[in-house]
Amino acid sequence: MSAIADFSTYKVISPIRSALGDDTHVTVHWMDGRTSPYHLLWLRDNCPCPHCVYPVTREQIVEIVDIPEDLQASRVTLKDDGNLEIFWQDGHASTYDAGWLRAHAYDEASLAERERLKPRKKLWDSSLAVPSFHYAEIMTDEAALLAWLLDVRDTGLSLLHGVPVATGALASVAQRISFIRETNFGTLFDVQSKVDADSNAYTAFNLPLHTDLPTRELQPGLQFLHCLVNEATGGSSTFVDGFQLAEVLKEEDPQSFELLTSIPIEFRNRGKSSDYRYQAPIIVLDENHEVTEIRMANFLRGPFSTAPDTMPRLYRAYRCFIALTRDERFRYRHRLEAGQLWCFDNRRALHARDEFDPTSGARHFQGCYVDRDELHSRIRVLQR
Ligand code: OGA
Ligand code: ZN
Ligand code: ZN
Repeated sequence: MSAIADFSTYKVISPIRSALGDDTHVTVHWMDGRTSPYHLLWLRDNCPCPHCVYPVTREQIVEIVDIPEDLQASRVTLKDDGNLEIFWQDGHASTYDAGWLRAHAYDEASLAERERLKPRKKLWDSSLAVPSFHYAEIMTDEAALLAWLLDVRDTGLSLLHGVPVATGALASVAQRISFIRETNFGTLFDVQSKVDADSNAYTAFNLPLHTDLPTRELQPGLQFLHCLVNEATGGSSTFVDGFQLAEVLKEEDPQSFELLTSIPIEFRNRGKSSDYRYQAPIIVLDENHEVTEIRMANFLRGPFSTAPDTMPRLYRAYRCFIALTRDERFRYRHRLEAGQLWCFDNRRALHARDEFDPTSGARHFQGCYVDRDELHSRIRVLQR
């Protein structure tokens, strides 16, 4: 019987020295001095045995209410292989892998350590040395693929070289991660100046710094932009780290930061057969009050709607944010050549393009999206 109901394995950081049960907890003393109490219900809830977890899916098949709330352990032992074994008063037996147990310990030191080891976002500005990878490497080498994906996760912007200059080639890059997210603009979209444009993106105008599809409840996580032709004058790319801007705004103008994290702004995209709208703050914070998302595209914004008292302050905050996007300190610039491809976190890195002159030459990019979940899942599988 496996002692881990998981597809991952867990290194034994420190073996168990001893384990002691009382009527509420089992307390594990680790060789390295750490002490981790586990509630009895928590332990039973996480029993990995085949009666509790279906071994094929590794998903739980019992619910905690099926277990008496006051269940007691009748015996707690440390097995010869170093794993923990518990015999319960209802006759059930559970074995816990020592590595798994340590990885899920919730004593104060373990919680703090896990917080410390969380991947850190690397904030950047105009001086960014953009993480760059070669198509041939990420397509064939799993280590190169993982290195690239970790940079996409932590920096939120990357550049690929040597992508075949062929329509559709970006799909094979995106599919190295996972499914492509289809939208009303297609599975792959062609960024070209079009007569019958259904977005400012499909004109030759300058596109100010924005995220794509802020009009959706879930903005696409990753965006791929592949350059097939860039022979027109103009059309350079600019990126800013939206998380960095949010931090600077918080420092320099806390009141504006507060407004942009709390007042919902409507973004809309209306076409002949679609009408997408979504309202959410421009800066989204997570449960730890850390910035987790930027939602911003001036050309897709609806009229502000907030109390009369707040309106002038909202305009001030919004102007302040746009002024920061225009600040050269934060703007990383590069002009894509055919065969280069941007892959970036669309919910973090704002992107822009300079206007171009379609009479001076051709310009054709292709784009597509993949959600953040797919990135994180691929990283975890590669790390197993
Ligand atoms: C877009 C976009 C950038 C470019 O299509 O949303 O931002 O360089 N395009 O054309
Ligand atoms: Zn069980
Ligand atoms: Zn865009």
